[in-house]
Amino acid sequence: MGVAVNGADLEWRERGSGDAILFIHGFPFNSAMWGAQLATLPPGWRGIAPDLRGFGASEAGQRDVYDMPRFADDMIVLLDRLGIERTVVCGLSMGGYIAFEMWRHHPDRIRALVLCDTRAGTDSPDAQRARRHLAERVTADGQQVVIDAMLPKLLAPATRKRRSDIASFVSAMIAETSRETIARTLIGMAIRPDSEPVLRTIDVPVLILFGEDDVITNRGHGEMLARGIRGARLELIPGAGHLPNLEQTEDFNHALNQFLVGLPRDSMSARAALRT
Ligand code: MLT
Repeated sequence: MGVAVNGADLEWRERGSGDAILFIHGFPFNSAMWGAQLATLPPGWRGIAPDLRGFGASEAGQRDVYDMPRFADDMIVLLDRLGIERTVVCGLSMGGYIAFEMWRHHPDRIRALVLCDTRAGTDSPDAQRARRHLAERVTADGQQVVIDAMLPKLLAPATRKRRSDIASFVSAMIAETSRETIARTLIGMAIRPDSEPVLRTIDVPVLILFGEDDVITNRGHGEMLARGIRGARLELIPGAGHLPNLEQTEDFNHALNQFLVGLPRDSMSARAALRT
């Protein structure tokens, strides 16, 4: 499966039928990270997990920098191609940065948000420098540089101790991502717009899910999102780091699925269905 989106063929995984939920992966992973969520969605839900341009099976297209507005626009065009008017958006970390961009420009397309281990603010100048440095190193020396830099921080101590399969899975996703995509995306994240002012404009249901032991985006970032978004609920997942959907899959899926089944009926989607 693949569809032309803004000059690149994008691929995605899909399960189920009914109301849509779009899963946006983090950096530098791909749609495979959402396999266990797609497989256990409640009845009546259609899960869509794209590979962002350059990641997984999607084409890279022609662009120097993969910035968050570009990824967000790709997601909107993909929704158009799939005939989805409104969707729940679930984004993890960079996936959250992209979800904020989607909200900023197309709030009418979003029915609810699930924000996982992400943050709304920009990078500090030091963090921007570190990203540029990593981009240079990965270009020169390859993906192992990124695996070495990220893996120790990505997973909770409990995961690192007992789940070598998860560490291998995550390393493999990073190794599969081209140096060029990693470098372009690092620069794109470094220049991402400030989404803090966007928070107070969000008026759809929001669930915030964070691994309790996440050190990349910590509980403070989650609390800041919960304070900034009216009615948002923060849930911490014990025994998980930056990737709670992989590390504590059952707890993550339980929280996600409870949220989905509790959503009010989508009057806009219902109207669209009546029109077709
Ligand atoms: C991610 O998981 O997407 C990254 O940690 C995001 C980032 O580096 O800011």
